[in-house]
Amino acid sequence: MAESLTLPQTTHRAEIYSALLPQIDSLIESESDLTANLANISAALKEAFNFFWVGFYLTKEGQLVLGPFQGPIACTRIPFHKGVCGASYTRKETIIVPDVEAFPGHIACSSASKSEIVLPIFHRNGTVAMVLDVDSDLLNDFSEVDAEWLNRMIRLIERKL
Ligand code: SME
Repeated sequence: MAESLTLPQTTHRAEIYSALLPQIDSLIESESDLTANLANISAALKEAFNFFWVGFYLTKEGQLVLGPFQGPIACTRIPFHKGVCGASYTRKETIIVPDVEAFPGHIACSSASKSEIVLPIFHRNGTVAMVLDVDSDLLNDFSEVDAEWLNRMIRLIERKL
């Protein structure tokens, strides 16, 4: 396993994702521990894009429970019907929120968070194992480019579930 990430000197997100994904793949391929892999993936996304908050909420005990993340401390438990995370879990869809204040039921773990993207991660049987939540302190910071590349990244996690 490489000890550091090699990232292109660009702000072009697709180029960064393209360089990052193979490195995430090799980072997790020989490690079977889910917590260790989710922790490294959070750190890799934070380092590559300096997102305000990036982390996982795992389906546990009938709710979404905070897992490995990078960024400020966050809400620990989210009911399935609450917030953007709950909406992504329930609809089984990627949700992009350009302005969190305009999303009914959004859970503000931090007032600095302005936009977010949440993606469901599936078990082989089609149930949602967890969601990936990425928050930005900029309005309208996520696009279909993030949705496409983060979904590709999530496939790497799902292979190991
Ligand atoms: N904003 C999320 C809650 C999680 S934190 O932002 C880290 C939501 O509405 O589900």
